[in-house]
Formats: sequence, structure tokens, C-alpha cells
Amino acid sequence: MFETLTPIPPDPILGLTEAFKKDPNPNKVNLGAGVYRDAQGRTPILRCVREAERRILENEESKTYLPIDGLPGLADVVQGLVFGPDHPIITERRAVTVQAPGGTGALRIAGDFLARTRPDVTVWVSEPTWPNHPNIFQAAGLKVRTYPYFNPHTLGVDFEAMREAIAHIPRGDILLLHGCCHNPTGADLTPEQWEEVARLAAEQGFVPMVDFAYQGFGDGLAEDARGVHILTEHCPEVLIASSFSKNFGLYSERAGALTVVTSDTQATEAVRGHLKKVIRANFSTPPAHGAKIVHTVLTDPHLRRMWEEEVAAMRRRIHAMRHLLAETLQEKGAPRDFSFIVRQRGMFSYTGLTPEQVDALRERYSIYMVRSGRINVAGINENNVDYIAQAIVDVLKNSV
Ligand code: LMR
Repeated sequence: MFETLTPIPPDPILGLTEAFKKDPNPNKVNLGAGVYRDAQGRTPILRCVREAERRILENEESKTYLPIDGLPGLADVVQGLVFGPDHPIITERRAVTVQAPGGTGALRIAGDFLARTRPDVTVWVSEPTWPNHPNIFQAAGLKVRTYPYFNPHTLGVDFEAMREAIAHIPRGDILLLHGCCHNPTGADLTPEQWEEVARLAAEQGFVPMVDFAYQGFGDGLAEDARGVHILTEHCPEVLIASSFSKNFGLYSERAGALTVVTSDTQATEAVRGHLKKVIRANFSTPPAHGAKIVHTVLTDPHLRRMWEEEVAAMRRRIHAMRHLLAETLQEKGAPRDFSFIVRQRGMFSYTGLTPEQVDALRERYSIYMVRSGRINVAGINENNVDYIAQAIVDVLKNSV
């Protein structure tokens, strides 16, 4: 049955990690998958997470199933994080939040929910976007189309083109937006641009869905939620996929959540019913450990403060590495201006390098990055920045 199956190429992002591990070059650098790394190149377990785990292990009495929609109390802390405490959406009970196995799991629950309730919708994704977005929604059976987002000349958002395209999105379709730290470009909408998108959504009747995988990595936990707030002010229905992989460093625990904002409590309960059907048929009930960590940290004032400081430290380090890379490239005589790296937000930067230049960096220098030219800025540190910058300059000067 399986002899004639066509071989599938490695995943464009996670496949890089597999190739990197096999590379014997001692100078190799991994700027591929979006995983935070500290100044020593490690992906640390946050201190608040270690402490929460200690408490969980001490107090846990059972491994019985969680409810289908997730750990009791998780929804409250997630909504507090996304909307801010005591937001009207919370007090009026206009949102339902279900636990999900990571941000990807949240997006897939959203896709399955839409396929079940509104099978004809098209999901509009930015061009470019995270390569897994189309996979997720197509696997759920939905149509996926793109809208322009990025200007390769300015290396910033091409808002005119985006606005023009989304003004024609039909009523009931889904517009996928990145809440902050756009993946892969690092180029985010300004508050005025969010306003315009929200206004168009309300006018046209399409529904925004926000991939909110990097809350806290842009300008701050509350600041990064600005786009979501603007959308919910204008639009009665919004879907939000949260991930705790990055801001809690819980990559392997698969902790995330899907929040669906509706127009009233009755709709919220109907949505919850459908989401539970989707979850039950997919993975039955979610895994407990990561969700317990998030809940423990966010409900304990001391751990929460510790977490906010640790997120701020990760954000500051990434920002410092943006400056360091841009400066080092200039010092080494880069034949083009890289100051845009400093303006971009979050873990990623779109360097403008071509796929051939990316291949050359991997083959000649064992520097791994996504073929779109995306780098994970958190992979840079004081020890490897000279090597990376020199390699980029060499490749640009001897352009392939
Ligand atoms: C990334 O974009 O590198 C991360 O979101 C990891 C992944 O799953 O692709």
C-alpha cells in the first residue's frame, strides 16, 4: 500500500534543526527554527517555570484526564493576558477559551471548528507567512488564499497593497493576522494600520483570526496585545490562537489556547460545544503539565512578577542582538544597508538574502536559516556575531 508513496522533502523550518544537528562543523550556527537562545546559545528553562514545576510535582495527586476544554482556570488567566484584567469581553462573558496543544494546535482547532460550522470560508494569509499556516487550514479542509503584506524593497509592511486586497475580502471569510512579531518578516502593523484593518473587517464583515504566538517578544506583554484590542473594539467576532511555547519557553510541553470572541453569552456557549466536539474527535483531552505551569505562574503574584521579568529579559536580549548584528554588518563593510533589522520586532528578521545566498551560507559556513532569508535573531550572540556577519558580507560580495 505504501510502496508507491512520493517522498516528502524535510519541513522547511524544523527540518533545518535536523540537518544542523548532523553538521560536524564546530563553528556551525543555527538561525533556523524560532526557539529562544540565551547568550550561551542555550534554550533555558525559565526560573518561574522550574519553581512552578516543583510545586506541581509536590502537590499533584492524580493524572486523571483534564476536561475536554482544558485545565479549569486556564481560560481565565489566558483571557486576562490577552484582553487585560476586567475587560468587558471577560465580564460580559463574550469569549470562550479552550486549551490547545501549542499555538499550532490552537490554529488547527480553529480550522476544524470553521470547517465544521462554516465549511465554505476561505482563510486569507499574509504573503509571506509562517509556512505551516496554509498546511494547517488546508489539512482542515479549508481554502487558503494570500494577501500582500511585505515590500521587499523597503523590507517593511506594504500597507497600501494589503489594504487594497483586504478591502475585497468577502463577508464571512477569515483574515489571519499575526498579533505581533510577524513571522517571518518581523514587520508589524502600526496602531493606525490595525485600526484601518479593524474598520475594514467591521465594514466588510470578514472575521479576523490572530496568531498570537509571540506575546511579550515585541514591545511588552500589554503593548503586544494592542492589535487584538483594536480588533475586538470594532469586530464582534475574533479568533485568537495563543502559544506559551515562546513566552514561557514551554516548546516541548505543547501549551496553548484558542479564544473565540462572540457577540453574546449564548453564542459563546454554542461555540464551546463545537470546539469540544472538535477536540474530542482529535486528541480527546489536552495534556496537563504545560497548562498547569502556565496557570501556576500566572495566578501566583511572585511567580508572575518573575515571569514578566524573564520575558522582558528575553525581549531585551533579542533587541540587543538586532543592534549588534546591524552594527557588525556595517563594520565588516556590508554592501547594503541593514538598519531595518533594528526596526523589525520579535524573534525574526527577514534579511532580504536570496534562497541561493542562504544555501551558500549553509554549504560554506554551516550557518542555517530558512530559505526565505528569515533568521532567528535569538540565535545570535557575542561569540558568533563576527562569524555570521563576515559570512553574510562574503556571500553578498561574491554573490551567487
Ligand atoms: C518557527 O516559525 O520557527 C517556529 O514557530 C517553530 C515552528 O514550529 O515552525
